[in-house]
Amino acid sequence: MTAPLIDPFQRAVNYLRVSVTDRCDFRCVYCMAENMTFLPKKELLTLEELDRLCTSFVDLGVEKLRITGGEPLVRRDIMTFFNAMGRHLESGKLKELTVTTNGSQLEKYADQLYAAGVRRINISLDTIDETKFAEITRWGRLPQVLKGIDAAQKAGLRVKINAVALKGFNEDELIPITQWCASRDMDLTWIEVMPMGDLGNEDRLDQYWALSDLRNTLRETYTLTDLAERTGGPARYVRLEETGQKIGFITPLTHNFCESCNRVRLTCTGQLFMCLGQEDMYDLREPLRASADNAMIEDAIRAAIRLKPKGHDFDYSRQKVDGQMTRHMSHTGG
Ligand code: GTP
Ligand code: 5AD
Ligand code: SF4
Repeated sequence: MTAPLIDPFQRAVNYLRVSVTDRCDFRCVYCMAENMTFLPKKELLTLEELDRLCTSFVDLGVEKLRITGGEPLVRRDIMTFFNAMGRHLESGKLKELTVTTNGSQLEKYADQLYAAGVRRINISLDTIDETKFAEITRWGRLPQVLKGIDAAQKAGLRVKINAVALKGFNEDELIPITQWCASRDMDLTWIEVMPMGDLGNEDRLDQYWALSDLRNTLRETYTLTDLAERTGGPARYVRLEETGQKIGFITPLTHNFCESCNRVRLTCTGQLFMCLGQEDMYDLREPLRASADNAMIEDAIRAAIRLKPKGHDFDYSRQKVDGQMTRHMSHTGG
């Protein structure tokens, strides 16, 4: 049996997030500049190459794969890749295959995702107001996403909504979004906006809405009970006693989940980032292309895991520009 992937801080790495494209059909204002330049297509790993890399990770003990982007479902032939990963579910090596999506393509793909073995998906949705949705995504259409959510639930997929907390934008929707999720039996997680990527004129500090404030506002309407459970992800959960709903909070600027971090991130160009909030990465494309034998890839993965840092470097307290990472979230997949 192969030895599991253990990093220098004795954390087992069993979760791989894979960004299959940096492209997206939306341009959320906190995520991308309007005139975002995407990678030339020839820079991307092919789906076969992504398959080889992910298979090596699974052979080394990765049990959970989350497919991200950009928007993963805009990549051509993406179902070929999901189906290829589905075979690792069948063999029992992989415990979960899942996706984080903006929902725009779900009407088309929900059934196929379920057939590939996906059971749970995360959908990014920051507002349920059609006009505001068009504003935050720059041109996205809310009804298209709502149809996608319907299709996902109909297909049997469990849906979690991810909402980025944005000051002056969705503060007034805290209760409506909570109620809407409750009425549709969907989990909900709020995320603090992270200082990633150069957005031109957008100012992060103007957008920053601390989740501690959000929690206090929620308390005015609901009774919150802290839940001890951690899913191995960055979220902390509370239960709303009145609705029985579970609400998650992701505060990426705190270090509260780094000590139990179990994940690494593969970009669509074959770079492995050991932490979302660090620029250090390890190139897996070279060993991938150097030989048809996966042994070189596995050695490279082990070498990379030895470089996993203790925690991230995000910092809002420093000068805005210093604390901001130049890399976009869509490159590493969040
Ligand atoms: P599950 O726990 O499997 O439901 O998923 P998740 O919450 O890890 O994944 P999702 O793709 O829904 O990510 C939600 C948000 O959490 C995204 O904005 C991610 O960028 C952020 N996030 C996920 N993992 C990390 C991490 O290791 N560090 C930091 N700082 N943020 C993370
Ligand atoms: N800060 C916080 N969350 C972000 N996302 C994209 N950019 C940022 C950012 N700068 C979120 C998306 C999606 C998830 C993968 O990451 O809204 O829910
Ligand atoms: Fe696309 Fe998601 Fe970024 Fe919005 S947050 S532009 S949907 S990748």
